[in-house]
Amino acid sequence: RAMAILREFEEKCGTPIGKLRQVADAMTVEMHAGLASEGGSKLKMLISYVDNLPTGDERGLFYALDLGGTNFRVLRVQLGGKEGRVVKQEFTEVSIPPNLMVGTSDELFDYIATELAKFVVTEGEGFHLSPGRQRELGFTFSFPVKQLSINSGTLMTWTKGFSINDAIGQDVVMELTKAMERKGLDMRVAALVNDTIGTLAGGRYFNNDVAAAVILGTGTNAAYVERAQAIPKWHGLVQSEEMVINMEWGNFRSSHLPITEYDQALDADSLNPGDHIFEKIISGMYLGDIVRRVLCRMAEEAAFFGDTVPAKLKIPFILRTPEMSAMHHDSSPDLKVVGNKLKDILGITNTSLKTRKVVVELCNIVAMRGARLAAAGIVGILKKIGKDAVKEGDKQKTVIAMDGGLFEHYSEFSKVLESTLQELLGEEVSSRIVIEHANDGSGIGAALLAASHSQYNDIEE
Ligand code: BG6
Ligand code: GLC
Repeated sequence: RAMAILREFEEKCGTPIGKLRQVADAMTVEMHAGLASEGGSKLKMLISYVDNLPTGDERGLFYALDLGGTNFRVLRVQLGGKEGRVVKQEFTEVSIPPNLMVGTSDELFDYIATELAKFVVTEGEGFHLSPGRQRELGFTFSFPVKQLSINSGTLMTWTKGFSINDAIGQDVVMELTKAMERKGLDMRVAALVNDTIGTLAGGRYFNNDVAAAVILGTGTNAAYVERAQAIPKWHGLVQSEEMVINMEWGNFRSSHLPITEYDQALDADSLNPGDHIFEKIISGMYLGDIVRRVLCRMAEEAAFFGDTVPAKLKIPFILRTPEMSAMHHDSSPDLKVVGNKLKDILGITNTSLKTRKVVVELCNIVAMRGARLAAAGIVGILKKIGKDAVKEGDKQKTVIAMDGGLFEHYSEFSKVLESTLQELLGEEVSSRIVIEHANDGSGIGAALLAASHSQYNDIEE
């Protein structure tokens, strides 16, 4: 009976190549729709106001804040122009106390400003602010924002377990600026960016062939460089030829997505029901909980763990994706890691090898589906920018900058993602597509964008 539950789940999670092609095509179609008009698609295709990516000429001392991943990060970097590049860089990271994720806007921003202020006072040798200047900051805020300019934008919705009602509709730069004032910190936010935009900018700084960025971490999202002409909804002054688009692909929806009853239940119990469905079947915040939900059903209906249902199995989010990954990668003959995790996290003792094998298989089903769908999403972008086919005379590589804990640490996931890309694109095309890990690129990216939008840029050095 437990096996029947598993097989049924496996079947519903199926991602045969034909289905992935449909998903990729649907992604391309939705991208067009989202660019055509405001509200034209579930894909918001947000305009970032980044129309120039870093050139390498950026100079000076800049700070960056990164909010929205597992950890909250603060960074400072001394940029030395083309010759010097990144002369010196320092960062610190702290986790956001869970109560602040569901409290008030002032509490959250006060906390951030306090941590930033603590970091600024440690600025020492190797960092140099030109006399009389104000410190400037790039703010990576990894949630959907309706950007009003390069350094202002209102929060549309929260995702990834944040839920602070009074912040919705507010300009997050204003919120941060007010908190900095309250904490006596004199700093100007020069750029507000999504993590995908920061990663794209950071990636481009080191590699000119970077055309898109994908985050696979707590949440998932992508950004890419679009031709200004291909954005009908953009009535702004089209001054440049390109514009970076934050897709918010986590909110992608398609009837071709393999959604199971477990996913529906997870969505219904989440802080943002009905939203970010693609994210909920792909990203790190959710994968472990999908596994837990299936195990729970197997325990309830098929006594998978014996006569009683382990109480801890009913606690949402108790099984985190890093633990799932550790079980999935267990290569010991008796699956010791799986046994220990089941015991330590869920209080389930004395599991048989057979039981452990089923758990590994379940992890594999969930991770495979996520990785294959992420690959299909990337193919959707490549189609949109015309890089999914070989063109006569075009030898340029297309680099996709990737970041996030899921991509970085869950190697089965990344492996399947890359092999699925090859499967979908064919050998010739995929030999020109490069997936590059841009570690913490978004911090540097935000600092670079702060530099290129500095208030002092018109002033002679
Ligand atoms: C980091 C980036 O490396 O990855 C962040 O600097 C990003 O901007 C994060 O949000 C996503 O990963 P995770 O796993 O921490 O959510
Ligand atoms: C969520 C956020 C998005 C972010 C992504 C990755 O999907 O809505 O803005 O880029 O997570 O962190």
